[in-house]
Amino acid sequence: MTHTAQESPATALPAGVRDDFPILTTLPGPYLDNAATAHKPRTVLDAITRYYTTANSNVGRGYHALGRRSTDVYEQARADVQEALGAAQPEEVVFTAGTTDAVNTVADGLRHLLGPGKAVLVSGMEHNSNLLPWRRLAEETGAQLRVAPVDARGRVDTEAFTALLGPEVPLVALSHVSNVLGTVNPVEQLVAAAHRHGALVVVDGAQAVPHRAVDVRALDADFYCFSAHKVYGPMGTGVLYGKRDLLDELRPPRVGGGTVKGVHATEPVRYVPVPARLEAGTPNVAGAVGLAAALRYLDGLGRDAVRAHDEQLVRYAVHRLSERPDVRVIGAPEEDPSGIVSFVVDGVHPYDVGGQLDEQGIAVRCGVHCASTFLDDLGLLGTVRASFAVYNTRADVDTLVGALDAVRPDVWTNEHPTTRFL
Ligand SMILES: Cc1ncc(COP(=O)(O)O)c(C=O)c1O
Repeated sequence: MTHTAQESPATALPAGVRDDFPILTTLPGPYLDNAATAHKPRTVLDAITRYYTTANSNVGRGYHALGRRSTDVYEQARADVQEALGAAQPEEVVFTAGTTDAVNTVADGLRHLLGPGKAVLVSGMEHNSNLLPWRRLAEETGAQLRVAPVDARGRVDTEAFTALLGPEVPLVALSHVSNVLGTVNPVEQLVAAAHRHGALVVVDGAQAVPHRAVDVRALDADFYCFSAHKVYGPMGTGVLYGKRDLLDELRPPRVGGGTVKGVHATEPVRYVPVPARLEAGTPNVAGAVGLAAALRYLDGLGRDAVRAHDEQLVRYAVHRLSERPDVRVIGAPEEDPSGIVSFVVDGVHPYDVGGQLDEQGIAVRCGVHCASTFLDDLGLLGTVRASFAVYNTRADVDTLVGALDAVRPDVWTNEHPTTRFL
């Protein structure tokens, strides 16, 4: 990761960023599916290799030097994440398998708050990973699932959201940034409104952490979840941040090795404190190490520069796409850009757009983005989603927009009529 001091003209990021990502030289064209997963810089790959070649051992168990080293490395990764999120203490950072796992952990752990006469409030834009755990919980406990509407600009409607709160709503779950539209919710306001009504708030930050510095204490979120692989870290790792007293009260969804002080046939089980109590089994230590390296990498680039770069690309993409009479950008991602632009092309199924862009070497996501209820509300079959990372350029946007000239209706969907992208 050696960058020259020279700044690239379009952004404040150091020149040479693309060289940090070995996979880029193998790709046929722009990779614009970063909201699904981002590529990994060499420094992350090296950190993972270094862990396995110098420290590999189980954590929190072995009374030998290597076991202690591995434990230290793991706990250092936790401390790094704590610092990056502005959490009060490392114990507030629970390593999970990803956002989905983190949300499920909270939903399972807060089951006791719901029941008949109670309701959980979600927003109308939620990814299935922050919808289904709550929907199932409501169904299983006899509680109601309330859905706060999204306004015409693509954000949760604060007034309507507030009107749905009340003493019967102990729980709220909402996204920080929409994975479909890239729009940013006024999370601080929504959290404050929920707290005024006595509800706990779980924030899905999967699409926020890659693009903006998140301070969980400033947001005052009770729980905040994100995935490493969308923030240039490895797959299979994520974070559940929770306020310490609330984590202490969570019922562990899984129990097993690493969670107990002692187990004896005739005595009650004594569990260890969080975070270990919520991390049953051997954790993904290399994943945590890779995530910490990814966050360091972003700090090295400069969080402000990363954000400015992502914002500029979104604004440029909206500008270029809007020049085309056959394209409609959905929502208003340019107002507070967060790395995502979703659009539709007149008369062409989004799968057809995606399939034909792929044939031209361009990777975008097309379909309903794991948020079919939101797409239903938007009255759309799906969208084409271009999502940006630090290695994308204006030239990538130009290539994308130019490639739309060659896109024809019913080419790809006719060939693959049964294919469904979720
Ligand atoms: C907003 C949002 N929430 C949750 C998820 C699920 O993340 P993961 O599959 O890493 O658990 C995603 C992934 O696309 C997402 O965009």
